[in-house]
Amino acid sequence: MPRNFIDLDTFDPAELRSLVQCAKELKNNILSAKDSLAGKTLAMIFEKPSTRTRISFDVAMSKLGGRAVALSPSDLQLGRGESLSDTAQVLSRYVDAIVLRTSRHNSLEELAAASSIPVINGLTDRTHPCQLLADILTFEEHVGPISGKKITWLGDGNNVAATWIQAAAQFNFDMQIGCPDSLRPQKKIVDWARSMGATIEITEDPIAAVKGAHCVVTDTWVSLSDEQSKSIDLLKPFQVDSKKMEAAADGAIFMHCLPAKRGQEVTEEVLEGAASVIFDEAENRLHVQKAILLWCLAPDGLF
Ligand code: CP
Ligand code: NVA
Repeated sequence: MPRNFIDLDTFDPAELRSLVQCAKELKNNILSAKDSLAGKTLAMIFEKPSTRTRISFDVAMSKLGGRAVALSPSDLQLGRGESLSDTAQVLSRYVDAIVLRTSRHNSLEELAAASSIPVINGLTDRTHPCQLLADILTFEEHVGPISGKKITWLGDGNNVAATWIQAAAQFNFDMQIGCPDSLRPQKKIVDWARSMGATIEITEDPIAAVKGAHCVVTDTWVSLSDEQSKSIDLLKPFQVDSKKMEAAADGAIFMHCLPAKRGQEVTEEVLEGAASVIFDEAENRLHVQKAILLWCLAPDGLF
């Protein structure tokens, strides 16, 4: 069975913790994995644009001694109707792992089901697990252990919000979500996290949502997979601004997976302010990507 990296909720918490630890050790040169993936090839299929995910996986492969091939559906017969299943079976004969970014989570599951090599979620309409491991690493570098802390999500209850909720259950922290009622995070994921014992509070009051938060996090109001435009007016009260950062705990940090729309989901002042750790977060994608690749391809002795 290939070691797929598809969703945080299927992991043992200790395994996720070991992935974050591995990323941290790689970043701090405690662990050297140079040439661990020599001779390995990663295929990356991006149905949607990407800066961080695409480049960090590409660089991670080359730093580990392997190589990556970036493809869009129009480069592949997939774009002309070849099935995902056939594509997966063919790629499994050529490369060692596949990253897929798609606006249909079911496509990722279909690809993984037909593939005999590891498949990695490079973002879907439902979740973005690579991002969350980088976010946990970033939070812990700036604030300390995330266990027992309070994280506030403000804005659209989108794929990244859903993955924060999964992470709350797996890394043992509380989530306070401030969002319009019509843009709440996926119920199934909220129910799962609560069933695992996580505290997930959802409110339409943005100031109540940020009270006591050690980190305020948001994301774009228009995601890659949003087909219909949603009411931006509904989201305006949830913009992260200085007033909301002041209502959070002392020393609270601000996070955003990027790309950001300055002046929309977050003010320029907060994005550029002292509490913002957005570029550390972006950098940590690279260290986490290396850890995920090492976990998936499991060279002896690392996991
Ligand atoms: N945060 C993130 O996944 O960015 P990209 O869309 O640039 O990959
Ligand atoms: N929610 C955003 C995240 C981008 C990294 C999207 O899906 O487009």
